[in-house]
Amino acid sequence: MKKNQDSIHSLFQPTFGNRPEKYIGRDGVIEKFMEGLREPVGSRNRCTLFLGQRGMGKTALLLELSDRAQKEGYVVARVTAHEGMPQAIIEQFQLNGSKFFNDDKRKLTGVTAGALGFSFGLTFSEATERQYGFRSKMSLLCDKLAEKGKGALILIDEVRTSAAMREVASAYQELVGDRKNVAIAMAGLPHAVSALLNDSVLTFLNRATRVELGLISTNLIRAYYERSFRTIGIKISDELLDRAALATRGFPYLMQLIGYYVIEYTPDGGEVTEAIMDKAERSAMGDMEANVFAPILNPLSDNDRIFLRAMARVGGTVTTAKLQTKLGKKGPAIQPYRKRLIDEGVIEAPRRGELVFAVPYLAEYLLEERE
Ligand SMILES: Nc1ncnc2c1ncn2[C@@H]1O[C@H](COP(=O)(O)OP(=O)(O)O)[C@@H](O)[C@H]1O
Ligand SMILES: [Mg+2]
Repeated sequence: MKKNQDSIHSLFQPTFGNRPEKYIGRDGVIEKFMEGLREPVGSRNRCTLFLGQRGMGKTALLLELSDRAQKEGYVVARVTAHEGMPQAIIEQFQLNGSKFFNDDKRKLTGVTAGALGFSFGLTFSEATERQYGFRSKMSLLCDKLAEKGKGALILIDEVRTSAAMREVASAYQELVGDRKNVAIAMAGLPHAVSALLNDSVLTFLNRATRVELGLISTNLIRAYYERSFRTIGIKISDELLDRAALATRGFPYLMQLIGYYVIEYTPDGGEVTEAIMDKAERSAMGDMEANVFAPILNPLSDNDRIFLRAMARVGGTVTTAKLQTKLGKKGPAIQPYRKRLIDEGVIEAPRRGELVFAVPYLAEYLLEERE
């Protein structure tokens, strides 16, 4: 098969927010949410918050959930959290739900049906449009969708506390109180919920089922690489296939990057060499630096960086004891940094007294940056 730009771009797309050609892994996370949708209205898993760093696959996950939920009888509204979000949610439901109301439209011959606040299909009557707010419109939409046996799933990407989010959160709670078939999945950066504000949105977010997105299986990535390279007609040895898969360390964005560059650098019908892998990894790391490491590190203070570099120099899983020695500081002096960096999603505490970096290669990057 001939390798061309089209096939490269369909197999690997190292950009943010796109739908991957093939969704890899996270079966457990997806299944749990889908089970929630089958549970009674108001059950906790029907309101889920996914957290993860840039490139961990939050947007891709929401896209996948959207697909699966539609197959199980949900109409989906997918929005990013901005000020116009409530109105955007309404419009998404109208747009995506209208196909279930085609018959109604045909039956309508000049007469205005106007029942229950609608003029036809999911289009509101003028009075409804003018007088009702988000919550009432959502309530009407939920009832209308229920007539067709459909539920309403709201997907909110890049979630953060805002007035618009407050409006959606309180409406959701009221809709659940009224037993409407509605569910919500949100995704955001780890610190989206770590603000020290006592805000009603935070209460809502904190009550949601929280899922921290981790790395995906390198075995699954290897299998996908193998299939993709074969499809596109480039040869690769088992050793280099192992190397490519392991180099991703299970980080979704890096998986796309390495796959993309390997294909980009291998001649049509050719074979992947060590030199090609070296180059692909270097290019991938350049993108990681610009699009993941820099945005994570830029907002941090000098002392945060000193803390992180000390962790990087210890290497691997870092115990508090070792870190104290490296920094020449006692526990209480370290504590605020530790807490903030965990809140920011830069590091994680897999076990008590232990710390690791939340994003692969960040430690290596910090050490190199120093030189
Ligand atoms: N499970 C997955 N399988 C395959 N590709 C994925 C997966 N998750 C994410 N990706 C890809 O990785 C890249 C980054 O994912 P994205 O969802 O944009 O990250 P985030 O929203 O967390 O910043 C995108 O190109 C996306 O298609
Ligand atoms: Mg995203």
